[in-house]
Amino acid sequence: MRIILRVSNKINIVSLAIALVLASPAAAEMTAEERATILAPTTDFSAAELHENLPGGLATNTRRFDREAFSQPSQNMSFEGRGDFFIGNGFFKRLWVTAPSSTTSADGLGPLYNARACQRCHLKDGRGHPPANNDDNAVSMFLRVSIPPATDEQRQAIADHLINIVPEPTYGGQLQDIAIPGHAAEGRMVIEYTDEELTFADGEPVTLRKPTYRFADPGYGPLREDVLFSPRIASPMIGLGLLEAIAEEDILAAADPDDVDGDGISGVPKYIWSRAQERVMLARFGWKLGNPTIEDQSSDAMAGDIGISNPLFPAHGGDCTANQPTCLEAPAGIGGPGGDLEASAEVMDKIFFYSRHLAVPARRQVDDPLVLRGKELFYQASCTSCHTPKHATRNDEDVDPALRGQLIWPYTDLLLHDMGEGLADGRPEGTASGSEWRTAPLWGIGMTEKVNGHTFFLHDGRARNLTEAILWHGGEAMKARETFRTMDKPDREALIAFLKSL
Ligand code: HEC
Ligand code: HEC
Repeated sequence: MRIILRVSNKINIVSLAIALVLASPAAAEMTAEERATILAPTTDFSAAELHENLPGGLATNTRRFDREAFSQPSQNMSFEGRGDFFIGNGFFKRLWVTAPSSTTSADGLGPLYNARACQRCHLKDGRGHPPANNDDNAVSMFLRVSIPPATDEQRQAIADHLINIVPEPTYGGQLQDIAIPGHAAEGRMVIEYTDEELTFADGEPVTLRKPTYRFADPGYGPLREDVLFSPRIASPMIGLGLLEAIAEEDILAAADPDDVDGDGISGVPKYIWSRAQERVMLARFGWKLGNPTIEDQSSDAMAGDIGISNPLFPAHGGDCTANQPTCLEAPAGIGGPGGDLEASAEVMDKIFFYSRHLAVPARRQVDDPLVLRGKELFYQASCTSCHTPKHATRNDEDVDPALRGQLIWPYTDLLLHDMGEGLADGRPEGTASGSEWRTAPLWGIGMTEKVNGHTFFLHDGRARNLTEAILWHGGEAMKARETFRTMDKPDREALIAFLKSL
């Protein structure tokens, strides 16, 4: 792996300081102006930028570009850290079993669940996919459910960022399509696709598939008439610790909720209560920014997706509700090493650590002329107004040493954008509306096919390739989408080549 070390001027030296010297005095001495210069979008597309090949800074995986490309630890991690990472990997893959069981350390599954292990959805630490057909189990994808808030109290709790949703009274916040023996599953997700024809400006036709979602065979009686669904694919797990380490003020500096600068792009921060920190925090995770920290998101998944109690979600029945009494009465997997919990604080800490340290793969072909041309088009089409190329991570003691003070290239602003009716799920989550989504990070996206064996993109995997993913952009991104749709074929191919190099 070639690391470009061009140190011909002051900016490059400073850039080296943040990208290559962690908590160095040089980085601390950097002026705000110097920092802004490094983070500003480039205007020179004749060659790759300094360190552009290392999207995760020194934590980047520069060694594996095969099916294991998303499963590597931060490359700059200590020896001890590697040990914890591999233990965490074991828990991430652990197949939980029904309680009571002789393996007391791994029982307590469900009663209702979507999958038996984190890794079953975050396949190869990458993304999930829609089921191949409606007889296939959904596994790496599920439907979130809720009902509209009905009382002033509920509306106030949402406005105060204390809750994201009001659960469906029987089915809870998520439909679990599997249950342990002796219990009914909640039902089955059914997807129907209809074709939508579109043409590029040069006349070439393209077909998009528009999904509709339904829940069949409800196991606990009818769902409320006003139930809201949101389909979600398991998101890739790479670079999450680096996203968590971006300073809050840097994210907020890019927000423009009322579009004061009049560019048609707003960018809204979302806040939500953190069980881990016991305060309202800026949200960073989930397709609609449902969670503020890796701890919150992972603990929520342990309870909601697998049905395993843990320090932040101590109820043994996961997403069982009061209207599912047999579910609440099922034996819990307690009394083993986890004490009163099915997953102990020690187990969860290792899972958090693992989730924080899955490395982003290095770029391929950063210097290829076609990729550089595609990069130029990505900037010209204003894709960068949401998919922000560069950030710097915080440089303080609270950040893990391997993730601290890095120049990173995630291609996201971690803000919400209105993406129009086409992509809308019509199900608000906290203060995010039915048509708002977090700008998806694009780092590593070009490795999806290699790692996961498919190219299904967007929150519900409806796009079958990168071209379709761009063509689904609407709302605030309509102008960018139209710029893409009206490009000639060689330019479209260059833009796609750039995305594939990420
Ligand atoms: C049934 C499938 C499933 C299982 C099992 C699962 N996840 Fe997820 N995961 C998802 C989905 C779907 C999302 C997106 C959630 C959303 O948009 O609200 C997600 C998102 C995440 C994210 C946030 C990623 C991002 O970029 O925002 C983290 C972290 C995460 N999961 C960790 C875990 C951990 C740790 C486990 C095991 C304890 C786990 N997940 C188990 C489906 C799953
Ligand atoms: C207004 C903000 C905005 C602009 C402008 C924008 N995007 Fe996006 N992009 C998003 C959001 C939000 C998502 C997630 C949407 C979803 O999952 O439903 C997304 C998703 C994507 C994805 C799929 C990512 C994944 O993980 O599935 C790709 C690829 C992508 N954008 C490329 C582009 C390109 C190329 C351009 C410029 C032509 C562009 N975007 C312009 C906001 C934007």
